[in-house]
Amino acid sequence: MDIYSRIKNDHDCHRAMAEKIMQTSGDSSERRELFEEYKNDVVAHANAEEQSFYAILIEDEKTQEQTRHSVSEHKEASDLFEELEEMDMSSSGWIQKFKKLKEELEHHMTEEEEEVFDMAHKVIPKDKEEPLADKFDRRKQDELKDAA
Ligand SMILES: [Fe+2]
Ligand SMILES: [Fe+2]
Repeated sequence: MDIYSRIKNDHDCHRAMAEKIMQTSGDSSERRELFEEYKNDVVAHANAEEQSFYAILIEDEKTQEQTRHSVSEHKEASDLFEELEEMDMSSSGWIQKFKKLKEELEHHMTEEEEEVFDMAHKVIPKDKEEPLADKFDRRKQDELKDAA
């Protein structure tokens, strides 16, 4: 599998998980567990992206600015995750903030798939596409171990 398909697979999974969380209600164990799983996976994904995919894109003038933009969106998402962790899950504010995070991440993923991937194809050599997916996987596994 190449890095693009690898990232896209996670995105599709994250889209489905966020929809599922929207269907939960109140401070339930279902909401807690799904949110915890979603948060850990999204944060591990973003860190793995930065350590593999974006580590290459930051080195090229063509993709430097976009990389900074994407990384700042990762930071915004992780701030929202932290705010959500501090909030009462049964409050209406919680699901409103979650919806905001969900929408920001949907925008972020679409931008990666529709704009960043196009740019990356001009920067990442074809023979690096598969090794980069392996690197992404290793980094993500390490991140998930740290989160556990
Ligand atoms: Fe990202
Ligand atoms: Fe991503």
